[in-house]
Amino acid sequence: MAIRPIGIIMNGVTGRMGHRQHLVRSILAIREQGGLVLPDGTVVRPEPVLVGRNADRVRALAERHGIEQWTTDLDKALADPANEIYFDAQLTQVREPAIRAAIAAGKHIYTEKPTAESLEAALELSRLARAAGVRNGVVQDKLFLPGLRKLKRLVESGFFGRILSVRGEFGYWVFEGDWQSAQRPSWNYRAEDGGGMVLDMFPHWQYVLEQTFAPITSVYAHTATHIPERRDEAGRPYPATADDAAYGVFELEGGIVAQINSSWAVRVDRDELVEFQVDGTEGSAVAGLRNCRFQHRAGTPKPVWNPDLPVTEPFREQWQQVPDNEEFDNGFKAQWEQFLAHVVADAPFPYDLLAGAKGVQLAELAQESARTGRRLTIPPLAH
Ligand SMILES: NC(=O)c1ccc[n+]([C@@H]2O[C@H](COP(=O)([O-])OP(=O)(O)OC[C@H]3O[C@@H](n4cnc5c(N)ncnc54)[C@H](O)[C@@H]3O)[C@@H](O)[C@H]2O)c1
Repeated sequence: MAIRPIGIIMNGVTGRMGHRQHLVRSILAIREQGGLVLPDGTVVRPEPVLVGRNADRVRALAERHGIEQWTTDLDKALADPANEIYFDAQLTQVREPAIRAAIAAGKHIYTEKPTAESLEAALELSRLARAAGVRNGVVQDKLFLPGLRKLKRLVESGFFGRILSVRGEFGYWVFEGDWQSAQRPSWNYRAEDGGGMVLDMFPHWQYVLEQTFAPITSVYAHTATHIPERRDEAGRPYPATADDAAYGVFELEGGIVAQINSSWAVRVDRDELVEFQVDGTEGSAVAGLRNCRFQHRAGTPKPVWNPDLPVTEPFREQWQQVPDNEEFDNGFKAQWEQFLAHVVADAPFPYDLLAGAKGVQLAELAQESARTGRRLTIPPLAH
């Protein structure tokens, strides 16, 4: 059994996503299971090299997880030929120069979304990676969530008939930081630091809608900053300059209308933190992170509008669960495994930097729509 070690520079792993999802739940989990076994029996063994700005924090993280290699010197890590992959989970704003340097050093690129702060920069990264002949990928973790996988299963089975509409509700209350600390980093609420709901979540909605249903043809968005002042990690007040809610309407090919509300100023009255309701001529479904409920045409009740009577039907009880029928691994890990197989064994990997640029394009057009009040057509994206 051949062991294939592969050095992975991991930048931004002291952060929320980098640490929990990418380091612990993905790369360390792959190492703990003995590596990734490829179809030809080769075992790919990730060798992480942690990179960060603060030596004490990076060293402490490396020691905590028994990782030998760490540095504050990205250039040094890039100069080592054993490090074949550069991974970025840094603050969005500082991502572009780091990825440029990694491409110039000939590294394969895997990165969190959004890939850049502007469409122009996102496309340029994709162009550079292509010209350098390096493999490249962007995190599209929501596609790997059990709830959305089950929803996709329903779509592929033809269950819905003609799909008419999609209603998405995403969000929860993010504390302002005064009497209870905020549960998300403060940069997310400052436009000047690359924050904002549209830039954060519309890249996700782009690939979820396109890959689950159909490509998006237009966007209309209304944004708001509902909470104008928040407190940062040190308890200091700061003006929230970024949008903390976005109300979007998307047209999809085939006449599907999708609406997604995204808000960090909403209290949850749902089963999960994100839910999508899909209505089709033959049936409907509601998918969350883990579960997916469905109702067939034959089981659809016939309510009659009469405000004088109490509710006549137990509507929430009239849905059935889509069974798991398979084991769902952590979505970030599943995508990492696909990317490693792509790099080492040329396995297909559709989520490249051009796909990532489409997410940035949707965010950028949504911001323009919110500024101008216009519905905007989404032009096809290519190099
Ligand atoms: N895929 C997802 O579901 C998902 C969810 C949340 C965030 N993200 C993305 O992951 C990235 C990181 O988000 P996060 O929530 O982990 O943020 P975070 O603030 O917790 O972590 C940011 C990381 O970037 C590093 N960093 C480098 N330069 C910095 C600078 N100048 N200022 C501040 N930090 C700097 C920090 O040290 C830290 O390691 C963002 O691009 C975000 O869009 C993705």
